[in-house]
Amino acid sequence: MDVETLWDGKKAYLPQKLSALYLKELTTIEMLDHAKNYMRQENEEGPVGGQGIKETHIHFAERFSNSCIRLQYVLIDPNEKFGNVPENFFSTFSTGKIALLDAPCGTGAGALSLLYTLKELRVHKKLPQLPLEIEILACDFSESARSMYSKLLDEAIPELATVDINVVYTIRAWDAFSMPSTTLLMRDFVKLDCEEFFVLVSAFSGIDKKNYQKLDNSLTHIQMSLSPEQYTVVHVEPSTRNARSLFSRLKNIFMLIFTSASSHEQYRCEERFLWLDPVNGRDAKSTVSVSINSRNKA
Ligand SMILES: C[S@@+](CC[C@H](N)C(=O)[O-])C[C@H]1O[C@@H](n2cnc3c(N)ncnc32)[C@H](O)[C@@H]1O
Repeated sequence: MDVETLWDGKKAYLPQKLSALYLKELTTIEMLDHAKNYMRQENEEGPVGGQGIKETHIHFAERFSNSCIRLQYVLIDPNEKFGNVPENFFSTFSTGKIALLDAPCGTGAGALSLLYTLKELRVHKKLPQLPLEIEILACDFSESARSMYSKLLDEAIPELATVDINVVYTIRAWDAFSMPSTTLLMRDFVKLDCEEFFVLVSAFSGIDKKNYQKLDNSLTHIQMSLSPEQYTVVHVEPSTRNARSLFSRLKNIFMLIFTSASSHEQYRCEERFLWLDPVNGRDAKSTVSVSINSRNKA
C-alpha cells in the first residue's frame, strides 16, 4: 500500500501523530535523552520489558518505535513479502465490530501501530472511511506498562475517531504462564459482542527461551477458546532464531486444533528494511517475521 508519509520508496516512517505521541510520553517520563542516545544493534531484540517501572521505561525508550515500525512495515508491505497478511488485516479492520486481544500488550506498540496506520491510510484515501468499532482487550503482567498504554490510548482515541475508527478498551493483568489467568482472560474475551475476533501477539519472543514451554498451555487455550468462531491470530516478531522457535510452537498448536476449514501461514522478511527513528532522526534497520493463523466459520 503506497502512502508517501509512511514509505518513501526506500525508508519507512512512523505516522507523524504516533511519533508525536511517543515523543510526548518520553518527555513526560524523562526518558527522551535516554532514547536519543540509545544505539540500536541490528537484529538484536534488546530489552523485553518487565514488571517494574524501570524496566518498562527502558523498554519504552529503546523498543517502542521498533515494535511499531515492524507491524507497520508488514501492513504497508512495499516489497510484497507478506502474501495475504496485509489484506487479512485490511478486510478485518474495514468496518463493523471487531474484538482485538492484545497479548501481551506492553505499552501498546503493536496495537497503536495498527490503529495509526489504519488512520493514515484512511486519511490518504487508500482505505474507505467506513464506521469501524474496535473493542480492545489488552493484557500484560506489568502494571506500569498497562498504565502507560492506557494513557497513550486515551490520547489516541479522539484522533482515531476523526476517521471513524471508534475504540473502546479494557486493560487487565494477565500472566501468560498461568492457566487460571489465561482462562479468565479468554472467558471474558469470547463474550465480547463482535463480528470477528482478532488476536495480536507482538514482540513476545524476547522472553527467556526456557519459558516457551510454559507458554504452550496458554497459547493453546487462547486458540481453543476461539476455535468455534471466526478468528485470526497474528504474531509479529523480529526475524530471530527465538521467533522462529516460537512460531513453530504456534503452528503445532494450530495444526493440533484444526484439520480443515483453517489456514496457517508464516512469512519472514529477512531483508533488513530501513526506517527513520523519530527520536533522533537516525536511520535504523530492522527485520520482521509474521505468523498468521486464521479460521473462517464453516
Ligand atoms: C517486548 S514487550 C511487547 C509488548 C507489545 N506487544 C509490543 O508490541 O511492543 C513484551 C511484554 O511481555 C510482558 N510479559 C513478559 N512475560 C509475561 C508474562 N508471563 N505474562 C504476561 N506478560 C508478560 C512484558 O511485561 C512486556 O510488556
